[in-house]
This record gives sequence, structure tokens and C-alpha cells, in this order.
Amino acid sequence: MSGALLTSRYGIEESWKLANAERAGAYKVARQALTTRKPAELREEVKKANIRGRGGAGFPAGVKWGFLNKQEGDQIYLVVNADESEPGTFKDRSIMDLDPHRLIEGAIISCFAIDAHVAYIYVRGELAFSVNRLERAIAEARQAGYLGERPFGIDHAVDVHVHSGAGAYICGEETALLNSLEGRRGEPRLKPPFPAVKGAFGMPTIVNNVETIASVPDIVEMGGETWSALGRLPGDGGVRLYGVSGHVQNPGLFEAPVGITMRELIDDYAGGMLGGRPLKAVIPGGSSTPVLDPRRKVDAPNEDHPLHKWHGKSEIDVPMGVDTYRALGTMLGTCCAIVMNDTVNMVDACRNLMRFYKHESCGQCTPCREGTGWLVDVLDNLCNGRGKPEDVDLLVNISNNMMGNTICAFADGTAMPMLGMVQKFHEEFMDAAIHGLPDGVRHDDSVRSMVEGGA
Ligand SMILES: Cc1cc2nc3c(=O)[nH]c(=O)nc-3n(C[C@H](O)[C@H](O)[C@H](O)COP(=O)(O)O)c2cc1C
Repeated sequence: MSGALLTSRYGIEESWKLANAERAGAYKVARQALTTRKPAELREEVKKANIRGRGGAGFPAGVKWGFLNKQEGDQIYLVVNADESEPGTFKDRSIMDLDPHRLIEGAIISCFAIDAHVAYIYVRGELAFSVNRLERAIAEARQAGYLGERPFGIDHAVDVHVHSGAGAYICGEETALLNSLEGRRGEPRLKPPFPAVKGAFGMPTIVNNVETIASVPDIVEMGGETWSALGRLPGDGGVRLYGVSGHVQNPGLFEAPVGITMRELIDDYAGGMLGGRPLKAVIPGGSSTPVLDPRRKVDAPNEDHPLHKWHGKSEIDVPMGVDTYRALGTMLGTCCAIVMNDTVNMVDACRNLMRFYKHESCGQCTPCREGTGWLVDVLDNLCNGRGKPEDVDLLVNISNNMMGNTICAFADGTAMPMLGMVQKFHEEFMDAAIHGLPDGVRHDDSVRSMVEGGA
């Protein structure tokens, strides 16, 4: 890949100010798109780009946009999901803080493409700094005539509003977000109807992640096919932001093609393991994604298996993509990895994660409300030397009873990593059940604060 795209303006002095961003190309694509291109052409570019949603589920954005079916009297909304509360995830805030005009430009083009006149950016409550940056940038864009009644002089009003959340992880789930945006309790809604049919204020709504929308200007400028080809995997195009936290030499945020491997991410981008200690485990894409164990080999002897090419290789040598990771039994999620070395006790790390889910369950569905609490209680017993070997099966049992039995994916996002931990580090759970945590297990504060604090 030649040079950065999404992060190309991060290094510019006061990159968040309109004049500076514009000197480096901001709003060039929006001006050109709104004044010379048709909405259907722009939708087609996004489809050809094969951009998989960057918020966690990895749904193709072009396909989602295609679900809109405007009826008489409908007002279509664009909602940008900037809730970013998934533990370990810290990518969207960099766009809002360092290049808010890229997100606004993406929102303008997207609104024009899907026939929306209003975009809401729903920002996680704790990100007051990002809210401030966005509001100032929106005011500048409005002043310049890029937002408002006639953006770039065309007859298609577009405005962007920032809505601050109140610090609930569940409000990142798109339908809970919509309830919160409407001033209701932030609880998920039953789907269907999906937001594209009935979303904000009962109207058709496209909900997309910050990074997804911020990628639109590059997609439109380069053309969907060219942008897609920047990635290394079929049906999963482009470049994306990769976060790395935990026991690496150089934790941070990196822009790279879709489809690099976890080994490349750790060694080539994040500078390798801290102090050269061995890699024990890595949570690949935010805390809801099942853990990878570098000792494990891909088991795909059949030629028709999607991972056959990597048969016999370590899990961390599989390209990081939405479909490849699904085939591996995990998820790419938000593509922000939490790297753990051999000092981490997996039962302790797991308890730490599960505390987060217990705290954040909205309580609407019984299997989630009760299950998250039970998981923490059992893990507390294991960690405190009060466990029994049957408790390990109990963790599996509780998780299986949560999966697929609730309104939203929160419970699955709790149960899947729990099951992954028990499956891959079973002996460590049995050890804790019999002996409690080993003496001298270091309660690593850096990992603890990452998973509890969200970054
Ligand atoms: C519990 C939970 C939390 C979520 N949090 C976020 C979030 O903070 N940001 C986000 O973009 N998507 C989040 N999602 C995914 C959204 O529901 C939705 O799929 C996403 O915003 C769609 O945008 P995309 O297709 O561009 O990824 C969350 C989902 C769940 C179940």
C-alpha cells in the first residue's frame, strides 16, 4: 500500500481545524461527488469497495445501504455510531479527535448517496474531548457552506448533529443507540424490523461505525474496486485501523491493509513482545471476540475448508478478515487486539472481562442479566480458592444458556469469549478450580485498566 489514507492527516499541525485539513485535501471529494455524481453511482462505489462494517459485526456497508426502500413521507436518517466502548478498542476516537473533517465529509457524501438530510453522530458519553472537536468542526463546515441548506451549492440539504451518550456500553448496540437517541431508555429493540426499515424516530435509518463512514471519501475518490484491492482478502476490502494494547513494545493504532496476520501486527507494527517475553494469548478484536492461542494450529485438512490454505499453521498466521476469523471460530470485531504474555493468568483475565459484562448488561433479558452475574460469581470462586472442578463445566453451561437467547448480541459477546477461554486454556481453569490462583500471579494493572476502562 502506498502511504496512509485514513490517517494521512493525523500528523499535520492542528489537523482538526478546517483550514489545515482543507489544505491537505479535505472536502475535495465531497465537493466533486455532490456536484458531479449521482447518488446511485456513489452507492455503487461503496458496494464495489467491499467495505465490511468497522463497528464489529462486519456487515458489508454497500449491502446495508441497499436495504433502504424509501416510501412516500419517509425521512431517511444516517446515524454514525461513535459509542466505542468495547474494551480494548480505541480507534474511532482518533478519527474524531485528529481528523473530524474526514468523518463529516464522509457523512455528507453518505447522506447524499442514501438520500438522507440529517446525520446524527452518537458519541460515547466519556469522550467529551471528541464531542468538543466534532462540534467545532461541524460549526466550521457549516460556516464554510459544506453543511446546511445547500452544501456546495447543490439542492440537497445536509446537516450533522452530535449526540452525547451517558456512558453505557449497551448504547453501542445499534437499536439501543436509537432508543437513547430518541430520549428513551438505552435498551435494544427486537429485530426485525431492522433500522434500515424502521430506525430513528420510526424512519428508515442507516447505522454505520465512525471508521466505516470516514472511509467513504477515499472509496469515492479512488473508486470502489481500486480501494477494495488495497486489502488482501476477497469480499473484505481496503485498509483499516488496527489497535494493539497490552504486552507489546509499541502499543498503538496502525493503518494497514485488511488481511495482515496477527503475527505481522504484533511483530512488524507493534514492535514485538514487550521485553521479548512469549506471547500467551491475544484477544483479537475487542473483548467480545474469542481469544487466539498461538500454540494452536489451524485444523482444516479438507480442500473445501475456507482456511485450508493455512492448515497446520498457528492461529495467529491466519489473515485478519471478517470471514477468515469467523471460520477460525473467533471474530475480527473492532480489530483492536489485546496482547497477553506468559505472566497473565487466563482465569484472572477472564474474571476481569466478565466483571465488565456484568456491570454493563442492561438487564432487559433474563439469560444475560442473570448469566453475567453467575459467570462472575463462579470466576470469583475459582480465583479465591473456593472453586470446584465442576465449576469449569458450570461456566460452559451458563454460557451456552446465554447464547442466542436474548434480544441483542451482548449475551453472545459475553458467552463466546468465555467459552473460548475455557476451551483453549482448560488446564488453567482446572488448576484454579483445584488450587485457586497460583501464588505470585501478577494482577497486571495495565491489562486490568485496559479491559475495564475501554482503552
Ligand atoms: C453490545 C454491543 C455494543 C456495540 N458497540 C458498538 C460501538 O461502540 N460502535 C459501533 O460502531 N458498533 C457497535 N456495535 C455494533 C452495532 O450494533 C452495529 O452493528 C454497527 O454500529 C454497524 O455499523 P458498521 O456496519 O459500520 O459496523 C455494538 C454491538 C453490540 C451488540
